[in-house]
Amino acid sequence: MPIKILIADDVTETRENIKRLLYFEKDMMIVGEAADGEEAIAETKKLSPDVLLMDINMPVMDGITATEKISLEYPKTAIIIVSVQGEQEYLKKAMVAGAREYMVKPFSSDELVNTIRKVYDFEQKRRVQLAEPAVVKQMQSDPQLVAVFSTKGGVGKTTIATNLAVSLAEETRKRVVVVDLDLQFGDVAIMLNVIPKRTITELIQDINQMDAELMEGYLVSHPTGVKVLPCPTRPEYAELITGSHVEKILGILKQNYDYIIIDTAPFFQETTLSALDLCHQILLVSALDLPTIKNVKLGLEVLDSLHLKGKVRLILNRSSNDIGIKCEDMEESLGLKVKAHIPSDGRTVITSVNKGSPFVITHPNTKVTGSVRELAEMIMPGNEKVTIMEKPETKKGFFGRLFG
Ligand SMILES: Nc1ncnc2c1ncn2[C@@H]1O[C@H](COP(=O)(O)OP(=O)(O)O)[C@@H](O)[C@H]1O
Ligand SMILES: [Mg+2]
Repeated sequence: MPIKILIADDVTETRENIKRLLYFEKDMMIVGEAADGEEAIAETKKLSPDVLLMDINMPVMDGITATEKISLEYPKTAIIIVSVQGEQEYLKKAMVAGAREYMVKPFSSDELVNTIRKVYDFEQKRRVQLAEPAVVKQMQSDPQLVAVFSTKGGVGKTTIATNLAVSLAEETRKRVVVVDLDLQFGDVAIMLNVIPKRTITELIQDINQMDAELMEGYLVSHPTGVKVLPCPTRPEYAELITGSHVEKILGILKQNYDYIIIDTAPFFQETTLSALDLCHQILLVSALDLPTIKNVKLGLEVLDSLHLKGKVRLILNRSSNDIGIKCEDMEESLGLKVKAHIPSDGRTVITSVNKGSPFVITHPNTKVTGSVRELAEMIMPGNEKVTIMEKPETKKGFFGRLFG
């Protein structure tokens, strides 16, 4: 749903200007215009905009009087006052009247867009806090827990988990957290270039008092807004963390986050199993080489016996047509269709890893970024589909016999 915006200004040219500045914003929509304060009230009543850009000096009724009335009668519309230099003395009045923010003309498209988003996001949060339980429920509906897993190391789990998280945050503007459950040798923090102050090790020491608010103190923020729960700083601390710790942590994160992306170690252990049990989707990462396919196949059998196969979405990383094994052969061997292909792009991926900045940001126009965006779309609630292929009856040839 785009942010619905109403513009109130008596000068047509100013309104046109604002429309131009917002033209390319896909998540914003101008739903109406008003030329004076009275019209602004009438249009707010009719259109229930999320954000109202309000000029101060207007005929019939000025912007401050209109702000006062609208913020009392239609509190769901957040008002941003747009003033010219020299109206500073009015700004205070505007804020007292209930405006959320003000901007001084002239402003850039970025300033305008950022202010609208900030005000809108704040308003959403405020509503959740004030709201009736029904609204709270709707706003926090279906947090998605997604595990990125493979029974093979080095296949790209962390690369995918981190880029997916950033892409989700960028596309949905929702709250995203990455939990690094590769407890011995996790590298989510290093791939995102964030410096952990505290980690999951410190968190479990306070686990009995833990709640959604305290939890925030253990997370590190990436500049994109994505949060990270880092793995322990030393491999030997990993064994302090149990499956029930993981259950509790994920349960608490669900209260504050829309997407919880879990990076994992390449083997089955109690902590991973707790995460796999709780998550909605398991992105099982494979690649087109024999050892990986063999291990992924074994992993898939275990997932099947744990009744987790239904959540599996097979992801092929470094897909490329010029290697010996064909994607179809792998699909046949695993009995699963590949749901997302991530192309091999060493230059992009390694440059971004070494810079500690996800390639979805550093290289927005590459195929590999496009494929991660598609993956992000796929995992959004309601979009996911699993096809489990029937196992072929007989398998011939080297490949078939090896995995038959
Ligand atoms: N699509 C890709 N193209 C090229 N290199 C990749 C790709 N995906 C991952 N890599 C590289 O493979 C290496 C291992 O990736 P990583 O995400 O750490 O794997 P894992 O977490 O499964 O151990 C990294 O150096 C990464 O840069
Ligand atoms: Mg990793």
